[in-house]
Order: sequence, then structure tokens, then C-alpha cells
Amino acid sequence: MRCISWLVCSLGLVNFPGKIDAGFPFLGQTFEQTGRLVADGVMTVLDTAVSGITETVSESNPTEPHGEDGGKLFLGVIKSYMEYETAQVDKGNDNRPKAVFYDDLGWFYRNGSLSNLDRLPASPNQIQTKFLLYTSPDQLTAEVLDYKDAASIQRSGFNPALPSVVVIHGFKTSSGTASLQWVMLFIDALFRRQGPGNYIVVDWSKGAQAPNYWAAAANTQLVGAQLANLIQLLCQVKQTNPSMFQLIGFSLGSHVSGFAGKRLNAANGGIKLGRIFGMDAAGPLFEHAGPGGRLAKGDANIVVAEHGSADGIKNGGLGIWQQIGDVDFYANGGKEQPGCGPVFAKALENILKFDFKSVPEAIQCNHNRNWLYVLQTFDPTCQFHSIPCDTYSNAILGRCIRTFPVEPNQSMGFYFQNSPTNSKMFFHTNAPSRDLSCGYHIKVTILAAKASTHGRGTFSVMFVDAKGNETTPYIIAHDGRLPAGKQAFLLVRSSIAPAAIKRVKILYHRFCQPDTCFADTVNIQSVTLATVANDVVKTSCQGIDMVSDMWVSLGLRDGKCKTGFRFG
Ligand SMILES: *[C@@H]1O[C@H](CO)[C@@H](O)[C@H](O)[C@H]1NC(C)=O
Ligand SMILES: *[C@@H]1O[C@H](CO)[C@@H](O)[C@H](O)[C@H]1NC(C)=O
Ligand SMILES: *[C@@H]1O[C@H](CO)[C@@H](O)[C@H](O)[C@H]1NC(C)=O
Repeated sequence: MRCISWLVCSLGLVNFPGKIDAGFPFLGQTFEQTGRLVADGVMTVLDTAVSGITETVSESNPTEPHGEDGGKLFLGVIKSYMEYETAQVDKGNDNRPKAVFYDDLGWFYRNGSLSNLDRLPASPNQIQTKFLLYTSPDQLTAEVLDYKDAASIQRSGFNPALPSVVVIHGFKTSSGTASLQWVMLFIDALFRRQGPGNYIVVDWSKGAQAPNYWAAAANTQLVGAQLANLIQLLCQVKQTNPSMFQLIGFSLGSHVSGFAGKRLNAANGGIKLGRIFGMDAAGPLFEHAGPGGRLAKGDANIVVAEHGSADGIKNGGLGIWQQIGDVDFYANGGKEQPGCGPVFAKALENILKFDFKSVPEAIQCNHNRNWLYVLQTFDPTCQFHSIPCDTYSNAILGRCIRTFPVEPNQSMGFYFQNSPTNSKMFFHTNAPSRDLSCGYHIKVTILAAKASTHGRGTFSVMFVDAKGNETTPYIIAHDGRLPAGKQAFLLVRSSIAPAAIKRVKILYHRFCQPDTCFADTVNIQSVTLATVANDVVKTSCQGIDMVSDMWVSLGLRDGKCKTGFRFG
């Protein structure tokens, strides 16, 4: 019998964890490796106003940045589906244009291989895609690249001798920079792992805006074409070629990558993009599409797909199930993620009956876990060992071949190297009574008081156990901002098991520009530590002044801060 949910399974209510261990003997190895301390981590800032609707920073329950708001995505999908299906039934009365031409980009269609979308993209003016280039970890603002303006490329700091990685977000439920929160975690991780490089953020927020999922899905075609033109121009002006570029997209962003790859292939006679990594590529409207209508094998020299919420839209799944890459990694079976709680069929029934009040948190959680898993793999010692297998149950039951020692090509991660064709791989992020994703990764959320001054600089974090042992501090290098009433989110490796952490020490070091410095003192309202699967939560709910270059040491207690708690 299948576990009803991973929460139930991981609590041991069903005799499942033992089997996981038997089927995934590599987990032991993973944990030994991570016993060594790695000073590594990433950080971003939830740059949303406290007044934002979905991203209000709760005093008692700070949250990690959402790649996509799964609840709104789900509702958008359901509504769009109805429109889409009406359009399909009503083909006889289909007066919508069949093609559209945009200067510099050419014709776009909604038939043939794109009939899964059956919708033309909005215009470049409406979508207002921005390409933002980061070349140095202490760069405070991005350079803007224009795919129609060679001069913008020429004068930019893009250096063809350095690695180029493009990060692409998916469906957006918030406006402005809020949509780029998780993306900045990747930019930071890239600087940590690869040093200086050409790290490009594709900001297509306006084209990805909720609630119309159908429109956003159709826009992936256009944004992909714009990205292809940008890469083409970079190649001409800076003398490089597409194989030097790697694309990483989440959800709808995965399909943007795919459309960019297809267009570049057509234009470059066989010189493909180096890599596309699709993180939980969006399923709705893409699940049954052929290779021309979605991210597909062949769109780059290697296409890696990771799947984690592919349970079908009727079960609350937002990801795609079908194999779309050279290699497809399925997280914990690919449908539901540990710690996200169950998506109760009953709750979904109500939503499908237009009771849009309560979208289960688990829908969002399952989807957003995926970028968090991939983010962790930027740490070279954090590997999700995977088993090539035909089905998940066979993988769990140990019926598929495993190799010892584990080959690097058996680990899920951005740096996955070899390219087995049609390979389906299964990995686990969880093991009973241990922390879960790749050893001890701790999510640290620092919430600034509403009246605090605007902090910006680097943050260092260390954990302390009951014996006073401390982890090596790790320093957040990139863009550490902590404005009043907002929160900074960090993902930190720890050699101390989450349950054994008793204190957290934090050091803020303010940025100074030639004539001004950011705040010398920031008032923190609370600090929250949680495991990736949210099964251990510790907090310091005491307000405290954090002065630049002075460590603060905070005692932690179990559980969240009480609602309404305010430091006087
Ligand atoms: C799609 O539509 C365009 C324009 O209407 C037409 O030229 C083309 O042949 C169609 N393609 C397919 C595969 O039907
Ligand atoms: C990994 O690489 C080895 C050779 O280095 C190869 O024999 C094996 O088949 C590869 N495994 C997968 C899953 O591709
Ligand atoms: C922690 O401290 C104990 C003794 O206080 C010591 O035996 C142990 O090796 C320390 N562990 C680490 C990881 O430093």
C-alpha cells in the first residue's frame, strides 16, 4: 500500500523508512560525508513589503522565499484549464488570430507542435523581459542587457572567458523584485561555487503574472525566443558560442529554456547550448505535449530534468511527469515531498468545485521543494545519490542495479556530467530521524523589526551545540539586505545535527560605498531555524540590536515564536 503522505511515512506511522534505507544504502555514505563541516551557504532577502498580500512577513512564522506561489498557481491553472477546454470544444467559433509577428523575433504560432498551448504569446512590450547580468559577488545592481542593442552587450562586463549561467523563474504571483527572490539564491550559490562568471537573471515577471496561467504558459515561447536572441548577440559581440551557456529554469522557466534551446539549434547549425537544467518543469498544458511544445531532450547538449510534484493537477501536482531530458531525476518518487503534508483529496474536491478558499499549503510546498533540492547541490559535498530504475517501487525494493562506489553520474545536481539517454533516476532526500536533504542544511530566517534601519552587507552564521562546540562560520557574500520589517533567508550547512543546535551566532558586516554606509545597527525581531523538511524548528523570539562587526549569540527554543509577540 502506498503511503498516504510522506509526512506519515517519515514519522514512521507506516513501516516505510526501513525500506527506504534498504533500497538506498547510499544514504549512510551521504551522512558520513557531511559529518565534515562545510562552510557554505546561500542567502537572499525577502524583498517584499509587509503589506504584500501573499508575502506578508508574519512575525511568528517567517517563511522561505517561494519560487512560485503554488496556491495561486493551482487556482490559475484550474481557471485557465476551464478557459482552455472551452476553447478546445468551441473550435468552430475560434476567431482568435492563428499567428502573430513581432519585430526582431519573427512569427509565433499556436498550432502544430504548439497546439498544447493553443495561444499566442503577448507582445514584447507587454512582457517587458529584462536580462540582468551579475559578474561580481559584491555588485550592488545588475547590468541590464538588451537583446536588440549590441552596444549594451559591448559595454557590459560580460567576459567570454568565464562561465555563463542563466537563471529563469516561473509563474509569478507577486510583482517587482519579489519574483526574483529564489533566483538570487542561485546567483549567490553560483558565485560561491564557480567564482566570477556571467550570471544572468531573466526577469519576465510581467509575462508570468498570475492569475492567468494559460497566458503565462503561452509567453514562455516568446521569452525563450528573446533569450535565444540575447545569447546569439552575446556570441557575436563577445565571441563565444552557445555551448558555453548553461540555463537553469524552474517550472514554467524550464520551458522558457527549452524554447530558447530550440531556436538556437535552428540558428546555429548544430552548436547547441551546453546544458539545460529544468527544475520541476511545469506540467499543466505541457504534460502531454510533444518535444516541440515543451522542454525536451535535444534542446541542449545535455538536458537534465528534476521532478518532484508530478502527481497530476487533479492530485494537486504542478510538475510534469513524463521524461523530458537526457536524464530525469525523480525526488522521493517525484510526486510528493517530505514535510509538505498531505494534499487531501477532499480539499481538492472543494477547489475543483470552485470553492477557492483553501488551497492546501502542500501543493505549493511540493513544488517549491525542488529548487531547494537543486540549490543544495551547488555544495560539492552535497550529493543526492540516485538509482537508475524503471519505477520508483523497484528502486525502493532494491530491484535495480546499484554501483559501488557511487559514480558521480548517479547524483542529482546541477553539475551532473554524463549523459545517459532516456535514463530515469530516483533519489531520496529523506532518511528516518535524520536531516534530510543532503545532510544538515538549516534554513535560517532573520526578521528585522519594523522600526529597524535599513541594513545591507554580509552576514556570517555559526551554530553552537550544548557542549559549546561551534560550526565554522560561513559568510554570505552576495547582496545581504535586511530592510525594516523584512526578512533575510539563508541556507546553511551545519556539522551539528539540527536537534542538537542550542544557539545561533550571527555577525552583520555593513556595506559601505565611497561616500555612504548602510545602517550600523539593525534591530532583529526574531531568528528562526528549520530543516529543509521543516521537521525541526527552533527560534529566538527576543528582539536584539545587531551592531556591524559584532557577533550576537542567541539562545534557541523549540517551536515558532508566539503570534503577536512584539519586542518592546
Ligand atoms: C500553422 O499555422 C500557420 C499559419 O496559419 C500555417 O502556415 C502552418 O502551416 C500551420 N502549421 C501546422 C503544422 O499546421
Ligand atoms: C556512469 O558512468 C559509468 C562510466 O563512468 C557508466 O558505466 C555508467 O553506465 C554510467 N551510469 C549512468 C547511470 O549513466
Ligand atoms: C565537541 O566537543 C567534545 C568535547 O567537548 C569533543 O569531544 C568533540 O570532538 C567536539 N566535536 C566537534 C565536532 O568538534
